[in-house]
Amino acid sequence: MTQEDKAPTPRNRDNKCSGPFLLNEAPPHYLSAVEYTDIPEMVRVLNLDKDIYNGTASFQYPYLESHGRTRIENTFVGDNASGYTSCWAMRTSPEGPMIGWIHTHFLPEDGTRVHPATGRDLKIGVIGYWVSPECVGKGYASRSARFAVQEYLFKERGCDIVRAEAYTHNEPSRKVLEAAGMSCEVEEWTAFIPKLQKDMIICCYAVHRDESTKSVVTDKTKDP
Ligand SMILES: CC(C)(COP(=O)(O)OP(=O)(O)OC[C@H]1O[C@@H](n2cnc3c(N)ncnc32)[C@H](O)[C@@H]1OP(=O)(O)O)[C@@H](O)C(=O)NCCC(=O)NCCS
Repeated sequence: MTQEDKAPTPRNRDNKCSGPFLLNEAPPHYLSAVEYTDIPEMVRVLNLDKDIYNGTASFQYPYLESHGRTRIENTFVGDNASGYTSCWAMRTSPEGPMIGWIHTHFLPEDGTRVHPATGRDLKIGVIGYWVSPECVGKGYASRSARFAVQEYLFKERGCDIVRAEAYTHNEPSRKVLEAAGMSCEVEEWTAFIPKLQKDMIICCYAVHRDESTKSVVTDKTKDP
């Protein structure tokens, strides 16, 4: 049996925070869990042009069905284990086609990032996102990032810090991070991007839940 024949891991419908969440009335903006049925639209959008490929470190071009299936299946394996949805489609109606994507994950709690006062492991969330080139400039990314940071990672998941990275020249993405309440902690860091097989200059943003962790800034000599 090949990988393609095997039934993919289903999403546990009981996972918390699956939505749909209404983020804005006009233009209508919902977030709800990504589904395998999103794959054809995801493939179409990610192949419209190279903007999303160029703006992100992970997405491939051309983007294939198999890329979408693997990405979503890996998400569901993790989500079913944690009991929380971690990755949402941006939509213009609760069940509508995907116009963008936002995901979250956590840095390992391995004793390398600890609370300055108590020494306990810090819970540090990370976000990433893209919006269809057909829908940019309408606030979809900013609203989604704000929701993922403030409502999900801080309120639901109890994060101490939320971080994100962007290419330093990616002004729209940097504005999205600022709209989500983040500040730049590292302006320029040279990072090797495997899919490009070359170094790129990235910047690192973060927002802290409160003042007590402000001294724990992103340190790219240690942090993934
Ligand atoms: C970056 C991206 C997610 C922004 O999505 P979006 O829904 O257009 O973002 P918003 O509408 O919330 O706009 C955020 C800001 O960027 C500005 N902006 C959006 N597109 C822009 C563009 N093409 N050129 C200049 N500014 C732009 C908006 O005017 C807004 O600025 P403001 O806060 O001063 O009003 C989207 O362009 C994208 O998917 N790019 C490719 C993938 C990518 O870079 N992902 C991020 C990886 S870190």
